[in-house]
Amino acid sequence: MFIDDRSFHRIQRLPPYVFKEVDDLKMQARRRGEDIVDLGMGNPDRPTPDPVVQKLVEAVAKPKNHRYSVSRGIHKLRRGITRWYEERFGVSLDPETEACAVMGAKEGLSHLVMATLAPGDVAFVPNPTYPIHSYSVILSDGDLRTIPLGAGGDEFIERLEQAVKTVWPRPKLVILNFPHNPTTGVVDLGFFERMVAFCREYRIMLIHDLAYADICFDGYRAPSVLQVPGAKELAVEFVSLSKGYNMAGWRVGFCVGNPQMVNALVRIKSYLDYGMFQPIQIAAIIALEHADEITREVSRVYQRRRDKLVNGLNRAGWPLERPRATMYAWAPIPEPFQHLGSLEFAKLVLKEAKVAVSPGVGFGQFGDDHVRFALVENEHRILQAVHGIRDMMRRCAG
Ligand SMILES: Cc1ncc(COP(=O)(O)O)c(C=O)c1O
Repeated sequence: MFIDDRSFHRIQRLPPYVFKEVDDLKMQARRRGEDIVDLGMGNPDRPTPDPVVQKLVEAVAKPKNHRYSVSRGIHKLRRGITRWYEERFGVSLDPETEACAVMGAKEGLSHLVMATLAPGDVAFVPNPTYPIHSYSVILSDGDLRTIPLGAGGDEFIERLEQAVKTVWPRPKLVILNFPHNPTTGVVDLGFFERMVAFCREYRIMLIHDLAYADICFDGYRAPSVLQVPGAKELAVEFVSLSKGYNMAGWRVGFCVGNPQMVNALVRIKSYLDYGMFQPIQIAAIIALEHADEITREVSRVYQRRRDKLVNGLNRAGWPLERPRATMYAWAPIPEPFQHLGSLEFAKLVLKEAKVAVSPGVGFGQFGDDHVRFALVENEHRILQAVHGIRDMMRRCAG
């Protein structure tokens, strides 16, 4: 045997996946016949809206759609996303040079980082964060620096500024995501104004992942970084149809903004793929055309689930804040269990309450005092989870 997997350079840089431990335990419990309420992974449970599915069926029957498509996305789809930006944010984008379709924000973001970072280039990412934001830098042999997200906002920008002043070589990239997974933190446009000014001053590229643009509650509307005048000089934004349109398995998203960065992504993708299956692109255009009605309904469902979970846990003696966006709740581990850390606590919740949650440490060490609930089961099941947790807290904490 001459193949030694310890010599697989990029694979060696990837640590074991923390979420897998809880996931394996969940599978074992289910095999034993236990009824586990799964609020672990952010995998939407609701069906893709009917007009989108119907369009896919119609398009799939046409042989001309069976050929290789275009890696950057067909023109009409790119036009669809630029219209969406115009209507939603009043932001004008050129579908030819400032928009690229991607097979989900995760694929696009990691390939963009690969296309733009040289080995050793410094990139800043908040901690905790959605894992690919860090691992895209690691997979590109970049020099990953994490900044505690803390309360976000100005506090985060100050920390970033301190870090930028002390690091050499100067950082090349910052990756942000608001509304934020996992903390559910949100920002206003003023935050992006300060970030764009900051990135301009220090000549840093900015990638903003707006995966939760469409899931907002209580009148909150998530801003786009591209609403800031001049943001296009240094920033791109990723949008995903996975969450707001219940299309996670379809793998559709977009990268828009700075033409040089978009072009880098278009170029690297032209070497790697032939584009999404064309019927999916055609159906995605319909999703964007019906954006308002689809996302209003999706947000309504998550908001009701949020209220069931937050009210229920608060009543059970587990205080947590009501998120203003995303499909998650970010819950500080209750005092009697804090010594366990998030992984052991998540295992306890699985064993004692029959509820799967994500340990915060999976998103970075500064997440270790929290667990994340994904609102991906119906209200009835969420109430079942709340009852299981309430009983667990009585038994184990008392
Ligand atoms: C912040 C963030 N970005 C991207 C993704 C993945 O998006 P996509 O399905 O478009 O790859 C997720 C999924 O959980 C996410 O939370």
